[in-house]
Amino acid sequence: MDQNTAYAICAFNDIPSQRAIGFHLMIVGEDGRPRPWPIVIVRWGKQVFGYLNRCPHNGVNLDWERNQFLDGNGTLLLCGKHGATFDLGSGHCVDGPCKGESLTPIALAVLDGDICVTGVTLVEDDETACEEEV
Ligand code: FES
Repeated sequence: MDQNTAYAICAFNDIPSQRAIGFHLMIVGEDGRPRPWPIVIVRWGKQVFGYLNRCPHNGVNLDWERNQFLDGNGTLLLCGKHGATFDLGSGHCVDGPCKGESLTPIALAVLDGDICVTGVTLVEDDETACEEEV
């Protein structure tokens, strides 16, 4: 396994358009040890965007209620702790205590109808199921 491997996380159609879903994955860190890698994947029409599920303000998960990632209009990512909002396409914080900072983007690819992560070495479970709670 190398950094060029693409790991299927869920089917493209498992995430409805204008929804975001979090995944609690494990990757092999630089020291060769597994470490948690929580991510959020947003789908918008035919596009998908992925970010580390970590607010640049306090380093916490964005979804204070599980899989609640979007603001009331469904057009911005929202941190449930202090209400920072982030542009869906860039991860840039547009308002809140970390305004001007950004979420950390992750590399995604859609291959054969699956949303895949690339550029990391994933610790694969027997089942990397889509946690569908939308
Ligand atoms: S921890 Fe996200 S806005 Fe404060």
